Amino acid sequence: MSNGYCKTEIVNPVDAKREKLLHAARRDARGYVAALVTAVDARDPSATAHSEMVATYAETIGRRMGLGESMIQSLRSAGLLHDVGKLAVPEAILTKPGPLTAEEFETIKRHPRTALDILGHLRFLTAEKPMILHHHEWYDGSGYPAGLAADRIPIGARILAVADALDTMFSRRTYKETFTLDRVRAELRAGAARQFDPAVIDTTLHWLDEAQDGVPAPAQSQKPSIRFRGRQAMRRLPVGQPPDRLA
Ligand SMILES: [Fe+2]
Repeated sequence: MSNGYCKTEIVNPVDAKREKLLHAARRDARGYVAALVTAVDARDPSATAHSEMVATYAETIGRRMGLGESMIQSLRSAGLLHDVGKLAVPEAILTKPGPLTAEEFETIKRHPRTALDILGHLRFLTAEKPMILHHHEWYDGSGYPAGLAADRIPIGARILAVADALDTMFSRRTYKETFTLDRVRAELRAGAARQFDPAVIDTTLHWLDEAQDGVPAPAQSQKPSIRFRGRQAMRRLPVGQPPDRLA
């Protein structure tokens, strides 16, 4: 009887059981995330698939910035869950076609902290929680909820902020039409070092320049390539609206 045989009999069942438990835990975790994302997207029909698109854009930008694979996976999960706190925002505010009142905007501004309250019940997503909490911070320190600036904002949150703005600008909402590609570029440039990390903007602009007339979805994504919308006339320009309605 070889030692190898004994080792196989004693060790492998433990490893197999641990692997089975880990597999079940990962499957459950994916299920929790999917359930939350479905609930968030169902609140605002005009923002359907917004979470998936933010995850896709964040992943693409993160890869182009050379971030490691575990960071990329965290960016994807954080992108999917970034607006989970909006579950606590009344639907009348989320889908309001006109400008928000100051009081309504204060209600919207609570959603990153609400997200942490919701996700705090889960023991995983350790890397994702700070990204979600800070995805509305501005690079110049004038964002919310903590007023963090520059490198004090987690890099994942700085990427999410740009990914969130990209999908909002490319999409039609109850309060705005889609932006043209030229306008998206101009908004990103104008927001560099003010709302957005200039390094993230630099990477994003290079990506948009290379993509020309279409932004390809990452290979891992099941979604088809995303084409920029045409140059539709703006029915309602969001000038003067709170920043959250733009990004
Ligand atoms: Fe948000």
